[in-house]
Amino acid sequence: MIKSGDEIRQAYLDFFASKGHLVLDSAPLIPKNDPSLLWINAGMAPFKSYFDGSLEPPKHRITTSQKCIRTNDIENVGKTARHHTYFEMLGNFSFGDYFKAEAINWAWEFVTEVLQLDTDKLWITIYEDDEEAFEIWHDEVGLAEERIIRMGKKENFWQIGTGPCGPCSEIHYDRGEAAGNSAEDVIGGEGDRFLEIWNLVFTQYNYTEAGEYLELPNKNIDTGMGLERVASILQETETNFETDLIKPLIDQVVEMTGIPYRKDQTTITAYRVIADHIRSVAVAISDGALPANEGRGYVIRRLIRRAARYGRKLGFENPFLYKLVAKTAEIVEAVAPELKNQLEHVENVVKSEEKSFLQTLAQGLSILEELLLELEAENKNLISGQDAFKLYDTYGFPFDLTEEIAAESGFKVDQQGFDQEMELQRQRAREAREETNFSRGELEKTYAEFKTELAAEPFTGYNSLEEKAKVVALLKEQQQVDSLSEGEVGEVILDKTPFYAESGGQVGDEGLITGDEFKAEVQDTSKIAGVVVHQIKVKSGLFKSKQAVKAAVYPDRRKATARHHSATHLLQKALQKVLGDHVNQSGSLVAPDRLRFDFTHFAALTEKELKEVEYLVNQAIMANYPVTTLNKSLAEAKAMGAMALFGEKYGSEVRVVKMGDYSLELCGGTHVNATGDIGSFKIIAESGIAAGVRRIEAVTGEFALDYFNQKLNILNTAAAELKTEADNLPLRIEQLQQQNKNLNKEIADLKQKLAGSKKDDLLAQLQKKQGVNFLTADLTGFDSQSLRDLVDQLKDQLDSAIIVLASKAENKVIFVAAVTKDLIEQGFKAGQIIARVAKIAGGGGGGRPDMAQAGGSQPAKTAQALAEVEAIITETVG
Ligand code: ALA
Repeated sequence: MIKSGDEIRQAYLDFFASKGHLVLDSAPLIPKNDPSLLWINAGMAPFKSYFDGSLEPPKHRITTSQKCIRTNDIENVGKTARHHTYFEMLGNFSFGDYFKAEAINWAWEFVTEVLQLDTDKLWITIYEDDEEAFEIWHDEVGLAEERIIRMGKKENFWQIGTGPCGPCSEIHYDRGEAAGNSAEDVIGGEGDRFLEIWNLVFTQYNYTEAGEYLELPNKNIDTGMGLERVASILQETETNFETDLIKPLIDQVVEMTGIPYRKDQTTITAYRVIADHIRSVAVAISDGALPANEGRGYVIRRLIRRAARYGRKLGFENPFLYKLVAKTAEIVEAVAPELKNQLEHVENVVKSEEKSFLQTLAQGLSILEELLLELEAENKNLISGQDAFKLYDTYGFPFDLTEEIAAESGFKVDQQGFDQEMELQRQRAREAREETNFSRGELEKTYAEFKTELAAEPFTGYNSLEEKAKVVALLKEQQQVDSLSEGEVGEVILDKTPFYAESGGQVGDEGLITGDEFKAEVQDTSKIAGVVVHQIKVKSGLFKSKQAVKAAVYPDRRKATARHHSATHLLQKALQKVLGDHVNQSGSLVAPDRLRFDFTHFAALTEKELKEVEYLVNQAIMANYPVTTLNKSLAEAKAMGAMALFGEKYGSEVRVVKMGDYSLELCGGTHVNATGDIGSFKIIAESGIAAGVRRIEAVTGEFALDYFNQKLNILNTAAAELKTEADNLPLRIEQLQQQNKNLNKEIADLKQKLAGSKKDDLLAQLQKKQGVNFLTADLTGFDSQSLRDLVDQLKDQLDSAIIVLASKAENKVIFVAAVTKDLIEQGFKAGQIIARVAKIAGGGGGGRPDMAQAGGSQPAKTAQALAEVEAIITETVG
């Protein structure tokens, strides 16, 4: 009896394998080369290019269980029975192979014979005028007419954005009246009674940006069965949340809080939100996503925040979500084994994000409190929609939390205004998405058309750097042209080429394309729709299309690039040896003059770790391992233990680059012949680029030598300045520092002496006005500390006086004032006096009644400012 989630998945894949389908692993959640999608959101999404014919599939029948994220209504998740952000879609696909009859018959066979669902409980919907589908369900499968319901475009025409789409037919399961009997408990309704379990899409159109439905070259099949839903039927649970695919997570949280799952509606929602969101978050991060303020990263951030907030409702005060990652990894292991390998990394990212959210929450709280005080002062009791939205948007402060806290102090929040702001933001997001929608697809099509004219193996540059080739097309601004003349820039497609197109982080080759009548420089090489495109500038003559040419890569540049590329392989291995197996490449740049390598690791590397890594790489260079390449199936390569790029998908055959027994990596790049060719390796920088991702920048070969020489040069110049040898620099610097310290001390002593001798002079200048002693003086060369010291000493020696001293420097003047106790009692305050005095010299300041300090920007007015003291005395005594 098939029951568990793992059993259902396996049964599905086995069933379609027995029908001639190639079983592929789930693609990563992050779409490759598809700007129209934020996440993979359906089983068919990774295969768009196979559907629209721009790429050839490895087989015309494929089956997968695909991890998916849908975030259109996050707000509903946890509140309804069947909304999820993360789910698995079981699918079988035909690319121009079988069509409706097989898709329908097999679907029926699977649900009734393999899953053994009760046929009486199954209902079918079809697109209203799809007679062909009706006949297959009715005549071939043998269903009664009333079980086949015709529905309109809204229900039975499947399409997401632009791309492949078509009419569809769905299989629904009746869970009985007990599951719901409202007006919505009908097929296609929102109720929980009828559950759509499988959607069969007869993909025959391509919906374009221009809004047209173009017939696809082939008829295709795209189906999607919800794994969680089927599990809920076979496991007879109330909702998907109680299946073995989600419930263990709820159980774990219940164990942590001690609060029963079904205590009340709030706890049910909270547990469901947490269990759902952690699945999305954990799997997405293991596929390379990271929390951020926009796009995909923002979704992750929102999900973590929403789950953390519901955690607070269950009493959590500290980060706890990360503790669920290990359990999630166990549940999804069969479809997302990456998570188990990335466990520590994912836990760290989740934990630090949750921690920083709790801090943000505290920050938002204090801002909200301030806001409430302000409103109170203005006698208002409504928080505006804008303010609530700002709290939400900038501080991650959820609306209902704002509302809750506001209510505690008797305030209300303008919900409508908030919703408006929210809608505006959604609109902005939508517009931003639509702008990028599928324009790449159109561009790809232009280039994909050249494919038929290419040689069987168009790239020849692994073995040679020069090639005689034929020009397949010349383009200018993506339009084909017959020729390009001197000075013009454009693009060239050759039937075969030694030029490496930018990919896997390695920059595109540069070089020359020449013919009898022209010479053109290749300034970059890239790949579009699998076609190598040379960006060129014609240096001389007229470059005509369709002719025979010679294509030659600049060899030195290629060689230098190869050194850096091979070094990244050694680097990755060394990092794993020093830091651990969790290190995984998350990005790279390989250029002729440097390399950049991004990888998962949670802390900055210590000086010692960096040294060790650098040492290991150089050791591997000196070992001079031969570099060889092998073509293998992906399974074989994995069995050999080859490292594959984070979340990367490869074709049916992969290229494995082997460096002795030291390193084995899937890679399409160009490399040195033996590691000794790299020459040397030097790390020049290490930094963090995102939570849990570090970056190392390094140089090899002559660039490492240049780097050393440059540093040496700096050292030698510094040594020459200090009249010593480079070797003696540390000692010399230490001596200078000591000298400096001594000099500073001497200066301080001298200043003190100066103040001492000044003091006697000043005491002699004491004046009297209206019976009040006062002393003012205009000095230079005192800093504020020594001026204060001087004033202090004077005050100690005078029983009764007001003292105001000034010290001028180039562009400023400082004042210090002091008043003895008896005069304070008479109403003289140093703080007030100094404020008036300094104001005259273009400044301000204040302080205590007995001692105060201020500055001014107009030293020329110092005398005038000091004269103010007499005026103050007259006023105060009078
Ligand atoms: N692509 C179809 C869906 O997502 C199967 O429902």
